[in-house]
Amino acid sequence: MKDYIRENKKAWEEAFEHSSIEYKNRTLDLLKHDPRSLFTKSMIRLLDNPYYKGKVLGQFCSNNGRETLGSLVFGFQETIGFDLAKNMVEYANDLASKLDLNARFVETNILNIDSSYQDMFDVGMLTVGAIPWFQDLDELFKSIHKTLKIGADIIIEDIHPVANMLAAKGEPNYDAKYPQLIVNDYFKKTPWVEVEGMGYMTGNTYQSKTFTSYAHPMMDIINGLVMNGFEILYIEENNVDQSNMFDEVNESIIPLTFIIHAKKVR
Ligand SMILES: C[S@@+](CC[C@H](N)C(=O)[O-])C[C@H]1O[C@@H](n2cnc3c(N)ncnc32)[C@H](O)[C@@H]1O
Repeated sequence: MKDYIRENKKAWEEAFEHSSIEYKNRTLDLLKHDPRSLFTKSMIRLLDNPYYKGKVLGQFCSNNGRETLGSLVFGFQETIGFDLAKNMVEYANDLASKLDLNARFVETNILNIDSSYQDMFDVGMLTVGAIPWFQDLDELFKSIHKTLKIGADIIIEDIHPVANMLAAKGEPNYDAKYPQLIVNDYFKKTPWVEVEGMGYMTGNTYQSKTFTSYAHPMMDIINGLVMNGFEILYIEENNVDQSNMFDEVNESIIPLTFIIHAKKVR
């Protein structure tokens, strides 16, 4: 395992240990009563597809399992989530059995998924905050490609690369007066190295183990898919912040989220 991924594993496991009871209860509540609300309208439009009924979905970077479990509402026969963090995977497997849902979770680095999952999935899914954890998107899409059947779809929703040019609240170059200011290089090659915890899970900041993540321009995301045998079917860019990092510029003139629907054609 690459060093930055080994360190990220420790940091994510620590974040889950710190995660608030509200975060866990909210997950359980939504799964029981309103699983669709775990997805944006754009994702629902793509996932609520009659062709997917009875099919198998794989989620890459499944965190506590909420979206892998929630996606069963669209009629998938089975869903499988992959994540680096052992404690999240244990929690998600426990949730699946408590809720009697046909989902399971596997602790693994996405770059190193076991060959038993080769050609398994009809649909692959990555949701907000998955792509930045990989330095090399060619490696990421190569690895995911192996797990998908020929003709399978991949659906990705993540933070728009343009948003990476802004400072998020709490970052040293953030200016509360001008949250829309461009402060980072769109082509930034150096990683973000952060030790303030994962506030969206824990509800507060804390001195944490080191998280390392990367910015990727849109061309790297699209080329990464195309070079690895995917045909792009649909791209959407919108101004809605799904990351909780850019509330001050939410629904303004800046693209904050993108969605790509692609097909494995070779
Ligand atoms: C921001 S979260 C994904 C969030 C998800 N959309 C959600 O809302 O629950 C990122 C996840 O990626 C996982 N992760 C990071 N690097 C990974 C890797 N190399 N392999 C597998 N999982 C990884 C982390 O453990 C974390 O659960």
